[in-house]
Amino acid sequence: MVKRQAGVTEAQIAVHWKEEDYFPPSAKFIGQANAADPGILERFSEEHFPECFKEYADLLTWDKYWHTTLDTSNAPFWKWFVGGRLNACYNCVDRHLAKNRNKAAFIWVPEPEEEEDRVITYQELYVQVNEFAALLRDFCGLKTGDRVTFHMPMLPELSVSMLACARLGIIHSQVFGGFSGQACGDRIIDSGSHVLVTMDAYYRNGSLIDHKAKADEAVARAESEGVHVDKVLIWRRYPQQYSSPTPLVEDRDFIVNDLLKDYTGKRIAPVSMPAEAPLFLMYTSGTTASPKGCQHSTGGYLAYVAGTSKYYQDIHPEDTYWCLADIGWITGHSYIVYGPLALCATSVMYEGVPTYPDAGRPWRVAERLDVNIFHTAPTTIRMLRKAGPGEPAKYNYHFKHMTTVGEPIEPEVWRWYYAAVGKGEAVIVDTWWQTENGGFLGSTLPALHPMKPGSCGPGVLGIYPIVYDEKGNEVEAGSGTAGNICIRNPWPGIFQTIWGDPDRFVEIYFAKYCKNRESKNWQDWPYLAGDGAMQAADGYLRILGRVDDVINVAGHRLGTKELESACLTVEEVVEAAAVPVLDEIRGRAVEIYVALQPSVDPSDEIQQKVTAAIEKTIGKIARPKNVWIVPDMPKTRSGKIMRRVLAGISNFTDPGDTMTLANSEIVEDVRQHVQSEKIARGDAPKELTDEEREELAKFGQES
Ligand code: PRX
Repeated sequence: MVKRQAGVTEAQIAVHWKEEDYFPPSAKFIGQANAADPGILERFSEEHFPECFKEYADLLTWDKYWHTTLDTSNAPFWKWFVGGRLNACYNCVDRHLAKNRNKAAFIWVPEPEEEEDRVITYQELYVQVNEFAALLRDFCGLKTGDRVTFHMPMLPELSVSMLACARLGIIHSQVFGGFSGQACGDRIIDSGSHVLVTMDAYYRNGSLIDHKAKADEAVARAESEGVHVDKVLIWRRYPQQYSSPTPLVEDRDFIVNDLLKDYTGKRIAPVSMPAEAPLFLMYTSGTTASPKGCQHSTGGYLAYVAGTSKYYQDIHPEDTYWCLADIGWITGHSYIVYGPLALCATSVMYEGVPTYPDAGRPWRVAERLDVNIFHTAPTTIRMLRKAGPGEPAKYNYHFKHMTTVGEPIEPEVWRWYYAAVGKGEAVIVDTWWQTENGGFLGSTLPALHPMKPGSCGPGVLGIYPIVYDEKGNEVEAGSGTAGNICIRNPWPGIFQTIWGDPDRFVEIYFAKYCKNRESKNWQDWPYLAGDGAMQAADGYLRILGRVDDVINVAGHRLGTKELESACLTVEEVVEAAAVPVLDEIRGRAVEIYVALQPSVDPSDEIQQKVTAAIEKTIGKIARPKNVWIVPDMPKTRSGKIMRRVLAGISNFTDPGDTMTLANSEIVEDVRQHVQSEKIARGDAPKELTDEEREELAKFGQES
């Protein structure tokens, strides 16, 4: 195990792992790749920045060409393609009609295997988007710049709704369908939406879930904070029948499928938007209590996702592309909807759980639709590997290209993905990026760089990463030392601000390494990603995960503060701490520690109440693995709960120095209680790797 030295923060500590061997892309892949000429690396070198991104912007159709590629005058609020005007919906739909109106834009696969796919051609998408846009404008009175919250499951109506907003310049804010009504309500409040678009029901793991009930909770939550939702628009899972037991609220709830009858045949001209107009908000958790609404632009974002879809996803017109992410996350926005559609691709959408009804499901879909590009996350790969390691071999599909995204992938899991899922034929891109970034930041360019399991690769085209130590000194590539990964330059896909909180935007992402707050030079404003990383001598980045205390469960970032706030909604709970524990399937899971009011005795009932509160406030995804009731929390003298100590106990790792705590005696009590219980339940973790220890040791460090 690595020794910690006094005064050295975790991000600076040397990390030890075995360097993995390279895997070269096949000649067959290279022969057909969109980026096979190494000249592209030169075109996007720093010398050509920022003009290199013209190549991405030129993938789009502009109503008015821009005059300034990058405007840095209000640093770090970068503006891209200034003076340009375009419409995102036009670029994703209308412009493809002339040549490809009858091509499938989406192939939607319902979870029940006996239900038929829905194939939506570009022409059908055009018609549906126009009609829904007419409804948003004429029935809801929405206009350019308004915000609309969606709480939609994975159905094509979600994409239709997004594109209809984009057509009118309305800012959409999709909340992950699995999140609770309250979490949705919080995001309605923050964005100031007065319209909620949702669905009656959807399938998840074989059950038809009542989703409409969450809309009632969301609206009530918004109302409690003075934000009034005028209209709830409800799409039907089955167009002909309402599938939720929850009744409609008169004059507030409206069935979209019925309303649309009044808009049949309506066409709405796409609104020509300035390149820097916001396209959508995507909320993400941070270390502080409230989620951050990442505001993404129209021109820069769309150019960036189109360019990266072309070169990194290697999407060609004839490909069938399947990204198994949820559109409720940024991956789905960028790489199910906007990127692929901007390139006129055929994008597959799946409603449900990948292992339903069994672990062969994705491979049956791939075989039937002849999918050749596949995109998913390590958590899904681990799940499929565990449930059906031999399943891919049973099906006759062939991927040319696969993606992994969302969290670091263990080399073992990578090798299974490569050999079993990819059948040794597909290239893999391990794409590192964040909600805030719009598109990829780190990845190999699939025909030009060899793959290395567990490393995402170098910075992508036009992205110049740097690893800094805590003092702002560059950590040399190949030094064997990790640090804080930053991007030295702006890029078109970067979010524009945190909705309603520009100061927080500057503080979180730029303040740490800003060389001069007055400067208008982008060189003075490195972007702090918040991840620890190490750069190998070949420039490949190994991402170690968050340096702050966000818990990444199955690729979803959960803020500890949000989790703890949920626990405190239970009357008997006075203090709570959320920590990550290793989990074989989800990578990390949440474990909760609570302290109770002095007069209250611990009980199973309270533990259940805490779990229920988390599920209600945040969603099932955050369901804690265990809830431990403890007499007191380990605290610093300034009263801060030491999550890292609790994480050490939960994971049977070294809790670090406890001598400086205000109540160090409590640690041993808690440790004995929790660990003996875990051992009794057979829930003690297996021997941890050095990397896992390193990662856990970073959790909860105050910086
Ligand atoms: O810690 C990194 C991890 O996920 C975080 C971003 O999460 P989110 O905003 O939800 O976006 C996920 C999808 C883009 C990052 O700060 N992460 C994402 N991709 C990778 C990764 N860690 C390692 N390797 C990756 N490929």
